[in-house]
Amino acid sequence: MRVALLGATRGMGRALARLLAARGDAVFLLGRDAADLERSAADLAERGAAGAVGTALCDLERPETFEPALAAAAAALGGLDAVVVTAGMFATQERLEDDRELTRRLLDVDFARTVELCERARERLLAGGGGRLCVFSSVAGDRGRKPVVLYGAAKAGLAAYLEGLDHKFAAQGLTVVCVKPGFVKTGMTAGLTPPPFAGEPEAVARRVLAALDRGTPVVYAPGIWRWIMLVIRLLPRAVMRRIGF
Ligand SMILES: NC(=O)c1ccc[n+]([C@@H]2O[C@H](COP(=O)([O-])OP(=O)(O)OC[C@H]3O[C@@H](n4cnc5c(N)ncnc54)[C@H](OP(=O)(O)O)[C@@H]3O)[C@@H](O)[C@H]2O)c1
Repeated sequence: MRVALLGATRGMGRALARLLAARGDAVFLLGRDAADLERSAADLAERGAAGAVGTALCDLERPETFEPALAAAAAALGGLDAVVVTAGMFATQERLEDDRELTRRLLDVDFARTVELCERARERLLAGGGGRLCVFSSVAGDRGRKPVVLYGAAKAGLAAYLEGLDHKFAAQGLTVVCVKPGFVKTGMTAGLTPPPFAGEPEAVARRVLAALDRGTPVVYAPGIWRWIMLVIRLLPRAVMRRIGF
């Protein structure tokens, strides 16, 4: 597969890129730090990625970088079979309530700009006859909850957009994979107390790769979060108001 990835310099994205490289897929890295991208590209080349691992700057806060970055990926790989977006931003609800500018940035990065990038990726994939678009939302988007009011709202919007894309463009060859991680131990969650069932990025990446290959529309990772969120979605509003989850 020829895959462009945004956010693969760290966390779950890096674990997924390493699996793709190890099985000999061709990968192209998008990100906002040139030196970081070069380091990650060298790592993936060593792990067996097909051909040279190219890189291009792409910053979710700078939409003017989207089109050149995707064009560079398509040119280097000779076309695109998949675009994977793991890039995202997190801040606690308390921090966001205290900082309006941070809130604006987070809503922008995790929803509006990610959608904008996905629209460009969708157009490119469909113009090439179809392909896979794999994007990381979150279990935080499954229900309005006290600890993730703002972050969860952005991820809920993103998941709704991805479902709409699936319905509208599947028949034309677009396969959409919406990943909903539960708590996973990465730089994003460093400093937070891991809850029971916290996952490791490598195990999540294995599950996401299987979903990417199969074209599973929604994947919870670790898998147990599917059942946890099923229960949470069924809880009456009066109960949700009382609990801290
Ligand atoms: N970890 C969890 O428990 C958890 C749970 C649910 C959902 N998620 C979601 O899963 C995805 C991956 O999370 P993770 O834990 O693997 O995160 P991570 O380790 O913090 O990595 C995040 C990646 O996103 C990139 N990024 C951040 N802001 C960006 C921007 N403006 N433009 C381009 N790239 C940007 C980072 O690049 P830099 O190195 O340049 O910062 C980094 O490569 C995210 O969408 C996150 O919201 C995570």
